[in-house]
Amino acid sequence: MSNTVFILNGPNLNLLGKREPHIYGHEILADVEADCRRVGAELGLDIRFHQSNREYELVDWIHEAREAAAAVIINPAAFTHYSIAILDALKMCDCPIIEVHISNVHQREEFRHHSYVSAVATGVMAGFGTHGYQLALRHVARLLPQAIG
Ligand code: DQA
Repeated sequence: MSNTVFILNGPNLNLLGKREPHIYGHEILADVEADCRRVGAELGLDIRFHQSNREYELVDWIHEAREAAAAVIINPAAFTHYSIAILDALKMCDCPIIEVHISNVHQREEFRHHSYVSAVATGVMAGFGTHGYQLALRHVARLLPQAIG
């Protein structure tokens, strides 16, 4: 039974910490990755953490996750709001899928209120800052019998 959790991040999240810090905070993506790895180790989960600005790379990782992952945590960033390719790829994953947004997208511009991904997500986390990734990971662990805790 796989204990691998894919944590995927979409465009512009490589600039976390520099990018609109009043919205996304001061932590950089490497801090988020380190936190996820620490919490993953605590829960007995193997973390594959990726970020890309290219839609096709995210689609390819979702295809890999389809074969190898016990769960997918994804912050599709702007692709959330228009990528049918990411929706279609996620539709082929049978495992739990948690959609994460650092900001509360529902408090922001109208175009951020719609997500293509939510239709296939097991759960959606928005507005918990970068802490949302850890919360998602802890929730995933509760869904997986192979996780600790
Ligand atoms: C985001 C919200 C999206 O609307 C935005 O395009 C992002 C980040 C978030 O984490 O709050 O790039 O997904």
